[in-house]
Amino acid sequence: MKAWRIVAGSQIAGLKLVDETPKALGPHDVRVRPRAAALNFRDLMVINGWYPAVSKDALVPGSDAAGEVVETGSAVTRLKVGDRVATSFFPDWIEGQPTRAKLATALGGGGAGVLTQDLVLNENALVKSPAHLDDAQAATLSCAGVTAWRALFEVGQIKPGQTVVLLGTGGVSIWALQLAKAAGARVIITSSSDEKLARARSLGADDTINYKTTPDWDNEVIQRTSGTGADLVLEVGGSQTIMKSIAATRLGGTVAVIGAVSGPGAALEPMSLIGSSVRLQGIYVGSREMHEQLARFVEVAGIRPVVDSVFAFEELPQACGHFLGGKHFGKVVVSIHP
Ligand SMILES: NC(=O)c1ccc[n+]([C@@H]2O[C@H](COP(=O)([O-])OP(=O)(O)OC[C@H]3O[C@@H](n4cnc5c(N)ncnc54)[C@H](OP(=O)(O)O)[C@@H]3O)[C@@H](O)[C@H]2O)c1
Repeated sequence: MKAWRIVAGSQIAGLKLVDETPKALGPHDVRVRPRAAALNFRDLMVINGWYPAVSKDALVPGSDAAGEVVETGSAVTRLKVGDRVATSFFPDWIEGQPTRAKLATALGGGGAGVLTQDLVLNENALVKSPAHLDDAQAATLSCAGVTAWRALFEVGQIKPGQTVVLLGTGGVSIWALQLAKAAGARVIITSSSDEKLARARSLGADDTINYKTTPDWDNEVIQRTSGTGADLVLEVGGSQTIMKSIAATRLGGTVAVIGAVSGPGAALEPMSLIGSSVRLQGIYVGSREMHEQLARFVEVAGIRPVVDSVFAFEELPQACGHFLGGKHFGKVVVSIHP
């Protein structure tokens, strides 16, 4: 079997596809034949050496895979051969609040990742996939889906009729668009592309703003909410957007701080939080329990996550290049076993 490995310091061009021997199963392990892996901005950061968490030499990258259980260890009780499953981003964060120990073994970061043709994980690190999804779609739940779920429903406590602002049309924002609409919220979404905004409207977005042609999109959000501001903003932009995200939020509302696609290192003006009573809450994906709640909701609501493109396993460097190019809408996926 083959696996992708990162060569430290060599970035995307240095990714190596190597022959490996499948791991033996421990009593609580499960062997998964992974069919698809969804990429995240974090994978590019890990591969390029930009990620602050542990990034070991020769790490197998990737956190989100879906496929089929093909073998179970002698003591496995949660899963059986034939079950369709997806990886839980943090194998050791099952439920409750995060701790350093629960976060330490994140797939494709602190621990080995999923871009391999033979995946062995503890049975606790897997979640059954919604029956109506194919594996490319099911793989997108692990990171982007769970992050959007946690931001909307755990942190934002969003209710039907409330207003959510989403930045850009990448993986997390499009997942959040689909979930927020299924929950009856009003969605305002921004993008650099009118074409992508039209696609967002076709998925149910109520209001769209082009952040290139309307750089003061925060004022626009205030106007379009009758001077009130949004109940919740999913902040994925970082240095160029965080102050605007705070300004676009209603008094006492919430900014879920998720990412920094425009770069880290923003200066935060404390007065912007004091006067507005806006709450900033950082988010780092979520627990297996949140993944299970998301999977249940996706099944009941019949949501099909948006897959932008599917690359062959051997084309991982091209898939990374496509992702970095920023033309995607929703999730970029690698097919492992078609
Ligand atoms: N904290 C967590 O647990 C967690 C989990 C997942 C992701 N993240 C982070 O969240 C961020 C988004 O992740 P993703 O996987 O959704 O990334 P992605 O698929 O690459 O999406 C990024 C999108 O952001 C938009 N964008 C770029 N520059 C922008 C700007 N200056 N202002 C507003 N929007 C801008 C672009 O949308 P348009 O093309 O439409 O303009 C782009 O497609 C990344 O920083 C990632 O590391 C964090």
